[in-house]
Amino acid sequence: MDHFLSLLLFSLLTLSVAAETAGEDPLIRQVVGGGVLSDHDHFTLFKTKYGKSYASQDEHDYRFKVFRANLRRARRHQELDPSAFHGVTEFSDLTPSEFRRNFLGLRSKLRLPKDANQAPILPTDSLPEDFDWRDRGAVTGVKNQGSCGSCWSFSATGALEGAHFLATGDLVSLSEQQLVDCDHECDPDEPGSCDSGCNGGLMNSAFEYTLKAGGLMREEDYPYTGKDRGACKFDKPKIAASVANFSVVSLDEDQIAANLVQNGPLAVAINAVFMQTYIGGVSCPYICSKRLDHGVLLVGYGAAGYAPVRMKDKPYWIIKNSWGETWGESGYYKICRGRNVCGVDSMVSTVAAVHTGSH
Ligand SMILES: *[C@@H]1O[C@H](CO)[C@@H](O)[C@H](O)[C@H]1NC(C)=O
Repeated sequence: MDHFLSLLLFSLLTLSVAAETAGEDPLIRQVVGGGVLSDHDHFTLFKTKYGKSYASQDEHDYRFKVFRANLRRARRHQELDPSAFHGVTEFSDLTPSEFRRNFLGLRSKLRLPKDANQAPILPTDSLPEDFDWRDRGAVTGVKNQGSCGSCWSFSATGALEGAHFLATGDLVSLSEQQLVDCDHECDPDEPGSCDSGCNGGLMNSAFEYTLKAGGLMREEDYPYTGKDRGACKFDKPKIAASVANFSVVSLDEDQIAANLVQNGPLAVAINAVFMQTYIGGVSCPYICSKRLDHGVLLVGYGAAGYAPVRMKDKPYWIIKNSWGETWGESGYYKICRGRNVCGVDSMVSTVAAVHTGSH
């Protein structure tokens, strides 16, 4: 215990600077610069923080090996992405492929569903400098997809929750499990491209399903289990929100911003490789693949994010993720605007909800 306490104190001291700027519990924000803590110390803190225990000594040793590789990767990410903090996250004992398989879930599909529109070009001359749908009541709390490749369903519900709020004035949390269990939308020319629960899917196909099915139920009426292959328990009379139409937004960042401001939060895809080690700040890696593997929700943007001394402030997108509130900045990710970093501009959709009720 003594050892652990001194370790704790040690880490509090060494991490306080980074934690101060990131504004959070230093134990959550274990950044890996400095090199004062040994890899073993980092692993001990990690296991305590996330309540990790391993079935056998072999498993423990293997996970420590993976963890050390991830520490090296986090340090590399920190060098490639100096305006963000990278370090230990709850995913630090997973290999990149385990991480991709269990916590992402975006499938690639060549063709758009038949009901997808092209979003009309909007005026962009009077866009606000900063904008955040969270301040306007259009965003539900951060959810957690758990160990299930269902990111696409959270991105889709997030967009429809926002659109439904704009159409009706009511913010209603919608059911991802309905999409996981019931949506098996396919591209007829692409067998194997179907939305398939924890094995991945696509937001545009989820909108197509929702349009055809009539709508989505409330989260509380069809709660999330994060488990695959459950029977579909869709109950049509309990539909809480319906899709009027959905559209694909062009790759232009001003058009993306204009659609966000006019239509509500947008479903976007991204390459998530830097997210496995992300702790906070504005992520703006010098190099990042544009291979899209994760579905998230764009909820706002800012003109100037925090950046370390002598680096220029960066304009950024505000992204709602589905890995719970302990990940990133209370569940959110900031990524810089300006050059389609990690592919964030390349698959953007907007959805409109059917007006219902008394509003
Ligand atoms: C989508 O639906 C909304 C709301 O009903 C409507 O205002 C808009 O014109 C529609 N857009 C398209 C592209 O059909």
